[in-house]
Amino acid sequence: MVGAYASGKMLAEVEQGIGLVTFNNPSKLNAMSVEMWQGLDTILDEFARDEAVRVLVLTGAGHKAFVSGADISQFAEHRGDAEAQREYDRGTAAGRARLASFPKPVIARIRGYCLGGGLGIALQADIRIGAVDSQYGMPATRLGTANGIDLVRQLAGVIGPAYAKHMLFTGARVQSQEAGRMGLVNQVVRDEDLSDVVVDLAREIADNAPLSIRAAKVTVDSTLPHVDPALLAEIQTAVDRCADSEDYVEGRNAFLEKRRPRFRGR
Ligand code: COA
Repeated sequence: MVGAYASGKMLAEVEQGIGLVTFNNPSKLNAMSVEMWQGLDTILDEFARDEAVRVLVLTGAGHKAFVSGADISQFAEHRGDAEAQREYDRGTAAGRARLASFPKPVIARIRGYCLGGGLGIALQADIRIGAVDSQYGMPATRLGTANGIDLVRQLAGVIGPAYAKHMLFTGARVQSQEAGRMGLVNQVVRDEDLSDVVVDLAREIADNAPLSIRAAKVTVDSTLPHVDPALLAEIQTAVDRCADSEDYVEGRNAFLEKRRPRFRGR
């Protein structure tokens, strides 16, 4: 089965037990639009039902990026203020939750940039394999925005609070080898070996007992601590303040105008 969704920006194919999902927006380094999230949803539905799919692999088109984050050119339209941002976050958090609860193993195959919401997608995979040329970052603080609460918590869960804060506060990119040391990716492999390594891994997993894998997956996933609802409300207020701030307007304009932003904390 081969399919194109979101006007061809999301691709799905199945080969030898592997369901391959490709983020295909290379002219924007596979930046993720709202339509692509909808396409991803449809593909996940189909792959969940398709018995020919034993393992899901997520990847970005081309060599430059896995996913460079949310599509910043849509920020003004879809995330213009706190209310719109909440709506947007609900949508993307639901998309991430669907990916996280996908009933079969998920591997992210990462080349190039894996940033912001793109890293948020990769974090939903059970296993991340990165090429040497891959790099990871959470640039929200350079844009005056805040990432979805769910994905920030997951990041901290995967790499620990100290590395998470370092990444979030600086917005700087982490190179592949460092990402490997931090546990952000399971393995770093030569660029030219990436496809083969992921296929071998997917086949090894596909040969194992699906019910045992499912049991392992849900058990491991149950270890992320729950958050107190009162604290969640406080976190949401901090996120809302970013979305309604002048800095956020400055951050996204500066990106689109290719200049450095000047932030004032309001
Ligand atoms: N949203 C929208 N467009 C994006 C994008 C994004 N997240 N990331 C890259 N693009 C676009 C660029 O605007 C550029 O478009 P243009 O050719 O029309 O000018 C094109 O993709 C190529 O990007 P460019 O910046 O020229 O490539 P680069 O190799 O010099 O830099 C990045 C690559 C990833 C460092 C840089 O594009 C970047 O910082 N992107 C934004 C990352 C980000 O903040 N993501 C988180 C959003 S929450």
